[in-house]
Amino acid sequence: MKRRFFLNTAAVAAASSLLFRAENSFAYLLAEDQYSLPSLPYTHDAFDAIIDTQTMQIHHGKHHASYVANLNKASVGLQLPKSPAELMSRIHTLPDEKKSAIRNNGGGHFNHTLFWTLLAPQTQGGEPSAEVMQAIQSSFGSMDTMKEQFTAAAMSRFGSGWAWLYKKNNRLLIGSTANQDNPLMDESLSGISGKPILCLDVWEHAYYLKYQNRRADYVKAWWNIVNWNTVNSLFAE
Ligand SMILES: [Fe+2]
Repeated sequence: MKRRFFLNTAAVAAASSLLFRAENSFAYLLAEDQYSLPSLPYTHDAFDAIIDTQTMQIHHGKHHASYVANLNKASVGLQLPKSPAELMSRIHTLPDEKKSAIRNNGGGHFNHTLFWTLLAPQTQGGEPSAEVMQAIQSSFGSMDTMKEQFTAAAMSRFGSGWAWLYKKNNRLLIGSTANQDNPLMDESLSGISGKPILCLDVWEHAYYLKYQNRRADYVKAWWNIVNWNTVNSLFAE
């Protein structure tokens, strides 16, 4: 009896230990794999005349990848929304010791993921839908005025940040955010709030190899590779 008890006890202990380790490993894996780098829907040389191949390789494979890796590190031990968009709306509720890392790296992940979908090789980005054109005309007067205001937002953002066209209360608005903030974050953090339908990365890492200090040339050229099909979908959602 004693031997059987010992064996049963040992078996239960071993099973518990395995289960415990498996649970821990599973939890660890879940935490590590919460967010992943999306593949690009085009090759790195797709925009070579406007955004050079090396910039695309470094921007996606190094910068965006780092945001994802650091977001996963900062997420260990936290139960966070798997959707990066949903995560953005929760940043202001996170514990102080995690907030900054998840704001910067989660923002970096969300912003870049969106940015890639808003680029298309020239002639493949489609045109603004009738609904988008109507919203642009009623909010800004004309497409040209919208582009002028968006460009001004991109140019006046001091240092690193993003320019945005976003929807709020059935109107379109233009603004910019610092660092990796975005309009899905609480307005107390990012300064603007709404649903983004177009964005432009104005960090120097997005354009410096080809344009150096000429941000205006980068912004002007970028209009040629806007993916209006994605804008139309985001507006309609
Ligand atoms: Fe970037």
